[in-house]
Amino acid sequence: MSKKLFIETLGCAMNSRDSEHIIAALKEKEGYETTSNLKEADLILINTCSVREKPVAKLFSELGVFNKKKKEGAKIGVCGCTASHLGDEIIKRAPYVNFVLGARNVSKITEVLHKNKAVEVDINYDESEFAFDDFRTSPYKAYINISIGCDKQCTFCIVPKTRGDEISIPDALIIQEAQRAVDNGAKEIFLLGQNVNNYGRRFSSSEHEKVNFTELLRRLSKIEGLKRIRFTSPHPFHMDDEFIKEFATNPKICKSMHMPLQSGSSKVLKDMKRGYTKEWFLNRVEKLRAMCPEVSISTDIIVAFPGESDADFEETIDVMKQVRFDQIFSFKYSPRPETQAQHFSDVVDPEVASERLSYLQALYTQLLDEKSQKQLGKVYKVYFEELNADGYVSGRSDNNLVIKTKGSEELLGEFRDVKITKIGRTIYTGEIVA
Ligand code: 5AD
Ligand code: SF4
Repeated sequence: MSKKLFIETLGCAMNSRDSEHIIAALKEKEGYETTSNLKEADLILINTCSVREKPVAKLFSELGVFNKKKKEGAKIGVCGCTASHLGDEIIKRAPYVNFVLGARNVSKITEVLHKNKAVEVDINYDESEFAFDDFRTSPYKAYINISIGCDKQCTFCIVPKTRGDEISIPDALIIQEAQRAVDNGAKEIFLLGQNVNNYGRRFSSSEHEKVNFTELLRRLSKIEGLKRIRFTSPHPFHMDDEFIKEFATNPKICKSMHMPLQSGSSKVLKDMKRGYTKEWFLNRVEKLRAMCPEVSISTDIIVAFPGESDADFEETIDVMKQVRFDQIFSFKYSPRPETQAQHFSDVVDPEVASERLSYLQALYTQLLDEKSQKQLGKVYKVYFEELNADGYVSGRSDNNLVIKTKGSEELLGEFRDVKITKIGRTIYTGEIVA
């Protein structure tokens, strides 16, 4: 009988892809199969995120539960960003943990599995040319890493300390992987990196041709049978005109752009070391919308960064009103170890922070409701990817609206024109018209 793997994945899309690589290695080399039943698992893995404090605090209580519920002899491993930053402290605090595997050491999963109390968390380890085995959670959409690590020094962010310096994966390997995914039936690829439009700055070997992100997109879009290209996350600082033009004019690139604003105040942006001002951000949005009016724009916002005054927060509100984002991910600032901002004074009162977050989220919902009313009766091409429990199938439009319609398996992996009949905050309902 095959051994069973239970894996829980927290955090970003990068972590989801790391989990797919872990599953692939354990399937191919160790004969594991995944299970959603913790109690029957021979190996329990948690792929952690450390970007904010809360999930880290939760880790140890969750590990305690895993340890209580696991079947006798089952192993527990901690992977991902928290593994990178806490290292052997995890085993000190939870001695029943069998191994710790950092976010940049995924390729060593089968090694640590057989060593008792192994801790592999080297953030300088270079996996950029490692040939991972193939495993995909969805046959319709393929997540593909294009770089590892991050070279930015945003003062709030722990990621450079958990995923190390930025190294681009050679374009030939990315194109091969995309081609393989398309050969296996995927019509959409989703390119992943901490900072995708900085692609090509550094490769592990100096022999690689210096292809930039715009050129990578051009090359990928030549793959026959590939219909859609998405990517995350681009950095507003690197959104040059050439990139925006390619985005707007290349028909295979989905018209959905994530533009992490973080703050609308140029002063706060400077303290965050984001490398752009409010004016630059607004200028990029204007350029993007001028060249690509149908684009949907999502963002990340941090409220109550140290030193953020009421006037600074008003600047963020002003950008919200001017841009009218299609989606926002908003957070209260959370001080992180090994970051510059953890030492900043002028901490914002937690009550004020909560008020700002609620205000921002309420404003977003109000702006979104106004905007989404206009969607009624519009027709979008939907790529169906998911079977819902209630006789519906769902998928996304090119500009990233989640749309469901009555239907079954035969729609999965297919494109249909769908007319919106009902508005929802996160999911629209529609009927197929062609
Ligand atoms: N506190 C709050 N939010 C953070 N993010 C990153 N670091 C922190 C932090 N210390 C947010 C940013 C980033 C998203 C992935 O998480 O908005 O874009
Ligand atoms: Fe992803 Fe950042 Fe969380 Fe690591 S810390 S899992 S890179 S969001």
